[in-house]
Amino acid sequence: MSGYADVRRVRGLIEGLDRYTATPGRGTTRLTYSPEFRAARNFVAAEMTAAGLAVREDAVGNIFGRIEGRDPDLAPILVGSHLDSVPHGGRFDGPAGVVAGIESAFLFRDLCLRPERPIEVVALIEEEGSRFGGGLLGSRLLAGQLDPARLADLRDAAGVSAAQAIAAYGLDPAEARRAVLAPGSVHAFLELHIEQGPVLEAEGRDIAIVERIVGLAQLMVTVRGRAGHAGTTPMHARRDALVGAVLILAQLPDLARAVGSDAVLTVGKMEVLPGGANVIPEMVSFTVDLRAPSEAQLTRLIAMTCEVVGASSCNGLECRIEHQLYVPPTPLSGRICAILTAEAEALGLSHRIMVSGAGHDAMILAGLAPTGLVFVPSRGGISHAPEEWTDYIQLARGIDVIFATLRRMAGATVPEPAGRLQS
Ligand code: GLV
Ligand code: MN
Ligand code: MN
Repeated sequence: MSGYADVRRVRGLIEGLDRYTATPGRGTTRLTYSPEFRAARNFVAAEMTAAGLAVREDAVGNIFGRIEGRDPDLAPILVGSHLDSVPHGGRFDGPAGVVAGIESAFLFRDLCLRPERPIEVVALIEEEGSRFGGGLLGSRLLAGQLDPARLADLRDAAGVSAAQAIAAYGLDPAEARRAVLAPGSVHAFLELHIEQGPVLEAEGRDIAIVERIVGLAQLMVTVRGRAGHAGTTPMHARRDALVGAVLILAQLPDLARAVGSDAVLTVGKMEVLPGGANVIPEMVSFTVDLRAPSEAQLTRLIAMTCEVVGASSCNGLECRIEHQLYVPPTPLSGRICAILTAEAEALGLSHRIMVSGAGHDAMILAGLAPTGLVFVPSRGGISHAPEEWTDYIQLARGIDVIFATLRRMAGATVPEPAGRLQS
């Protein structure tokens, strides 16, 4: 079976990007605006330039590389994904989609294709939320779903605000509003992503076309007690924040089970302060990540979680909840789904329709423009871990579908060979 994408170039792009990790040998750790992120940004900008794209960085650090259209006034098709990672994650989550955009641009160049409509390859910031919490920050800013003034409130583990980090990165946070894309200014968004689950591998299929993304929410729970001496404070006189937090935590998995077999709940990050072995914990904060296929299930799960936390403000403990992210279940474009399916068929690729349990920039940008999302297989279904893996040939097949869809949607034509005689 022949394809378009150059597997060696795709591999070079993925491996090139993966040099930029804060944890070499222990997975990919590339937090937004970190030195590794800046180096990855420079790498992406250089590759985009090599592919013939006109590169710009927006006010918050999202990168755009443009193939000009024969009609430059038409709204562009955006194609890409995110450049940041979770701590100790894999090399494909995010970069696979950025590389799909860059490789497509190389193919347009190599095949001398000129699109009628402009195409912009995008590499987005902070999809994972690993630095500032919540997640989907770049796409939410683009889609006008996050007030840029909030950048002063979002803080990383060291207390640095997103606005301060943007300034240290060399951009002006006061300009963040300029990153917002006007409604109607984008024709469509296409994203390629690894599946991050086991289905494609188990079924031996090449790709999935995503019709819907589950709803997701993130909460930050804070339990406040009183610090004290671990040796001299009797058990009855303690207000131990960690004991309170653990009692809450122990109740949470059952809430998801009660809501339905497709609902999931995860506590993945916890901080204990002041954090001394011989100090009674004064404050514990932890994230709660909640996902469900229907909005009714998701809102019920959130309400049940809030109830459990609220009921735990007793015995001298004070419990608070901050809502960091809420994105309802998102249907993607049926029209783009049909085009992706037709192009996969034409390429002779096996495919299926899928619902995504993971969150993606696509679920936000779907609010801005019709959006399509393609998955390629993940070995063993593993993701958000150093073992995350997709064979480069499998990735190349997904890129073929993205490229063919771009070509069709952007109205690309092959230029007449110079000097050809007209009959
Ligand atoms: C992104 O990886 C998410 O689903 O949280
Ligand atoms: Mn991820
Ligand atoms: Mn991702």
